[in-house]
Amino acid sequence: MLANHTNEEKGIQTDFQNKMTYADYLQLDDILSSQKNITNHHDEMLFIIIHQVQELWIKLILHELRAATEAIENGVMQPAFKMLARVTRIQYQLIQAWEVLSTLTPAEYLEFRDKLGNASGFQSYQYRLMEFALGYKKDSILKIYKKDQEKHDILKKAYHQPSIYDAAIKALARSGFDIHSDILNRDFSKTYEADVSVKKAWKHVYENTSDNWNLYQLAEKMVDVEDALSQWRFRHMKTVERIIGHKVGTGGSSGVGYLKKVLDHRFFPELWDVRTEF
Ligand code: HEM
Repeated sequence: MLANHTNEEKGIQTDFQNKMTYADYLQLDDILSSQKNITNHHDEMLFIIIHQVQELWIKLILHELRAATEAIENGVMQPAFKMLARVTRIQYQLIQAWEVLSTLTPAEYLEFRDKLGNASGFQSYQYRLMEFALGYKKDSILKIYKKDQEKHDILKKAYHQPSIYDAAIKALARSGFDIHSDILNRDFSKTYEADVSVKKAWKHVYENTSDNWNLYQLAEKMVDVEDALSQWRFRHMKTVERIIGHKVGTGGSSGVGYLKKVLDHRFFPELWDVRTEF
């Protein structure tokens, strides 16, 4: 007759007087009071939460990407594979999130869009850190954060650091592949551009997988990350088109036209080029 038993008799803890609770540990009071609507419109809650959720997931992606880059630099490949696999799973959560946002109709969004001023995902500082970690650097981005010295300094530091792809190219060189020295010693603050010696090395890896299993697996894990990021960008662009059509963005860009253009960028170019070549 468990139904008549008290919680204590059932073994359920109810006295948290001096103990850390679930809410304490997760700082839920802070998180759940951070949805500050600026209008009374019903759908604004969705708009805020979808951005916050994506930012939280991007925080975890950055955590995993940094550790994976370090592991590759140190030649510890298995943990890097595990972390990159996690990154891709998170990315699929992010892609799925567009499904929820696409329930926001143009009429609903227009009810509060003009209250957002110039606020736009374009200013997402974590998204830029993620692009930097993957090797896409644009100095115009740093200017956006001039007003916020702390963020500007963190971004600037990340801007000059090698990306995960630079770490992968170094791993190719360590394994004996002849990589041009100007690529190994390149200026990391520049967006990576395809190089013939890197393409030759990846081609060899893909043609001789059993001799280069770690590098082959690394290449495929990185393709997974770039593939998922392209899908995220595409779904963002289509969701934006669905909600605002071809209006200009709150961040001041041409909107969908701009988002279509950024779709063209390739983070790990040789890993795509090599697929045509063997
Ligand atoms: C109704 C929902 C949304 C609309 C209409 C929208 C629209 C746009 C537009 C037009 C841009 C181009 C820059 C500009 O002029 O503002 C942009 C950029 C961006 N948005 Fe959104 N967005 C929406 C939701 C989101 C969400 C949920 C996220 C997740 C964090 C997000 C992240 C970004 C990022 C990171 C960029 C920069 C992309 C780049 O420069 O490559 N957006 N958005």
